[in-house]
Amino acid sequence: MLGERIVGTVMGGYDGHRGWLYSLAVDESLRRHGIGTRLVAHVEHALTGLGCPKLNLQVLSTKAEVRAFYEALGYRADAVISLGKRLDALADPVPAG
Ligand SMILES: CC(C)(COP(=O)(O)OP(=O)(O)OC[C@H]1O[C@@H](n2cnc3c(N)ncnc32)[C@H](O)[C@@H]1OP(=O)(O)O)[C@@H](O)C(=O)NCCC(=O)NCCS
Repeated sequence: MLGERIVGTVMGGYDGHRGWLYSLAVDESLRRHGIGTRLVAHVEHALTGLGCPKLNLQVLSTKAEVRAFYEALGYRADAVISLGKRLDALADPVPAG
């Protein structure tokens, strides 16, 4: 918050095994002022307090600037691939048979 104005968002979760960070965004007019860093630090602090040993997140491979941001905060690419499956109306049709 900046006064009454919302200038950034972040979500974090901990499932008892790993923490996840989602939906980080800072108002475009206020970027590069350390707000993103503070939002991530807030989640890191909260999850550390819950005993979370590692925080994961996903970045679209096309977003080099977002990767640069996280790398500046000490995040590194893990040697994994990310798999996903839609369960909603956009799910692929189940093959017949
Ligand atoms: C990514 C984002 C949250 C960063 O927020 P921010 O408040 O601007 O980040 P900070 O000011 O804390 O930046 C900290 C450091 O990260 C790095 N960094 C931040 N933005 C960067 C960019 N566009 N390119 C390269 N490095 C960047 C810099 O090292 C920066 O330090 P510096 O400003 O002293 O050089 C913001 O750019 C954003 O909202 N992007 C769009 C939403 C998005 O893609 N979110 C991620 C979803 S996974």
